[in-house]
This record gives sequence, C-alpha cells and structure tokens, in this order.
Amino acid sequence: KKTVLSGIQPSGSLTLGNYIGALKNFPKLQDDYDCYYCIVDLHAITVPQEPKLLRKNTLEVLALYLACGIDPDKSTIFIQSHVHEHAELAWVLNTITYMGQLNRMTQYKDKSKKYNESINAGLFTYPVLMAADILLYQADLVPVGEDQRQHLELARDIAVRFNNKYSETFNVPEPFIGDLGSKIMSLQDPTVKMSKSDQDENAFISLLDDKDTIRRKIKRAVTDSENNIAYNDSQLGLKNLINIYSCLTDKKVDEIVGMYQNRGYGKFKEDLAEIVIESLLPIQKKYNEYMSDKTYLEDIYSLGASKAERKASKTLKKVYKKIGFVAKK
Ligand code: TYM
Repeated sequence: KKTVLSGIQPSGSLTLGNYIGALKNFPKLQDDYDCYYCIVDLHAITVPQEPKLLRKNTLEVLALYLACGIDPDKSTIFIQSHVHEHAELAWVLNTITYMGQLNRMTQYKDKSKKYNESINAGLFTYPVLMAADILLYQADLVPVGEDQRQHLELARDIAVRFNNKYSETFNVPEPFIGDLGSKIMSLQDPTVKMSKSDQDENAFISLLDDKDTIRRKIKRAVTDSENNIAYNDSQLGLKNLINIYSCLTDKKVDEIVGMYQNRGYGKFKEDLAEIVIESLLPIQKKYNEYMSDKTYLEDIYSLGASKAERKASKTLKKVYKKIGFVAKK
C-alpha cells in the first residue's frame, strides 16, 4: 500500500476552505492508502498562540478529523508534538536547506508582512518542519490545497538532495491537489484565499458556524452587478461560489450555470447556503459527540502517536546512521 500524509494547524476554527481543499479528501483515501493525518501543533506556534486556546483547538481539530469520516481503525491520527522525531528530523533537514530557498517561500513573505513585529526563526524554517512531517513517513501522496504547493516542491527538493548526498533514503512525495476546490477564496474579497485568520468574520465560513450565520455570510458574499450567472474571471466572487457549490454537490460547473440562468443571484445564494448547511450539519453533530467524550479522544491520539512513532523512528534511525551519528547503545 502507498502512504499518504497530511496535516492541519490547530490555529483557530477550520474553514470551509480547509474542508473543501483538504479535509474532505482525507477519508476518501483511507481505503486505498496507508494514511497518516496529523494535527500540527509545532507549526501552529510559529505565530502567537494563547496556550489554553491552542490546547482546545488541538482537540477540536482531532474531533473534526473524526467527524469528517477519518476512521482511526484505518488511518493513523496523531498530534505532531507527540512524535518527537518530527522536530529532530526537521533539525537535520535544516542543515541541508538553503536560506535562499526559504526566502522565496511566498507564505513566509505573506506572514512576515502580517506579523512584522514578531517574526521568529521558526516561521522561516516552517517549510522544513513540514518536509520532515512528510519524509518521516516516506509518504507517496500529500493531499493539500493550492497554497501548499510551493512547500511540497521544497519537500521534494530536500528529499532528492538528501538522497543524492547520502544515498537513497527518502521517498519523493507527490502533491495531491484537487481542481476546483484547491483554492477557496474569501467571501469578502475573491482575490485572496479564504483564511481562518481573516480579521473579517464574514470573509470565511467556519465548519462550526450555525445555520443562520451561514445563510447570512453567503447572502453577504461579494459578487458583482452583472446579475447574470456565469463562470469567468471577471466575476470572481461568483466563480468562487460556483466552485463551492460544485465541490459540495459534485455537480459540474456548466450544469450549475445552466440551472440558474436568468434567475439572478438571490436564488443561487439561497440554494448554496442550504447546500453548505446540509454538508456541515452531520459533521457538526458528530463533532459535538466526539467533543463530549474526552477519554475517547485521548485514546485515539495516544494510539495514533504510538503507531506514528513506530514508522517515524525507523526513518530517523536510518537518517542518523547515514549522516554519521554514533548509534546509542
Ligand atoms: P493549514 O492548516 O493552513 O491548512 C490546512 C489545509 O487546508 C488547505 N487550505 C485551503 N484549501 C483550499 N482553499 C483554501 N482557502 C484553503 N485554506 C487552507 C491547505 O492547503 C492545507 O492543505 N503547512 C500546512 C500544514 C502542514 C502540512 C504538513 C500539510 C504541516 N505539515 C505536512 C501537509 C503535509 C498548513 O499550514 O495548513
């Protein structure tokens, strides 16, 4: 079986973008692949986090993983900081990554603009830790949204460089990036991606938003004054809404455009709101059940950590040997 690895940061409530771009694909892969899904708390602390909230958000992401259909009997679900090999391999990989490469990472550039007062070295080497996450499990496939493509390229590059320097060690992973759903845009500004850290609550739909909030946010979503349902780059707001519609219903874009011809945006938005609600309701219901059973969540992440550790420690031992570290007796 081939191996899949992906992760999500516990840095606030997950959005519809996280869901459509990544999370929705996670359970689909678990029958055909050996899947590892982690909650990347080490990544989350590269920007300021409130300790109490971080702890809460970490369990929330775990509960959402389960609620979205990741089955702990099929997939390994774990918390990144529980498997110390991640930080250790990241250190080694830091020493074969060029500063210049990291300087070119667009996400780093964006985030360093945003947090310009308190840029830390961790934010800079963030993509190296991500490479460690992936390479530790010898992943073949990494399901992510479009914004992670550049990080994936770097992970591949690091793997190849290590292999060339020390002989074949790492599998070189492929990105798995969906088509329409790989970049869900802000509902308030369709030129920027939907983000859980957006200051404007109306810009994103949280997976835990209630019905009325979802209806309101979609109603207020920025479109244009054409009032004609079409799918093109001069109607970006509408294009984004059609993408969401298509991803949640598996209806083709042309079919959706056809269905709403000559009907204005009102009806389209109303229907879309109900589709989003119907998609999220079962997830929210299960999420609440999981959140009320902390012992179960503990069992899942404890079991996950030991399963993950088995594979991770094997890779790290190999790496240490190749670079010439003396093995501990
Ligand atoms: P994070 O936590 O920012 O986002 C989690 C996943 O959601 C995707 N995503 C989106 N997809 C479509 N439209 C959007 N608006 C949108 N916003 C977010 C992201 O692409 C991602 O797949 N660095 C990663 C976490 C990570 C990771 C890994 C991923 C750490 N280690 C190893 C894969 C493998 C991140 O910040 O994701």
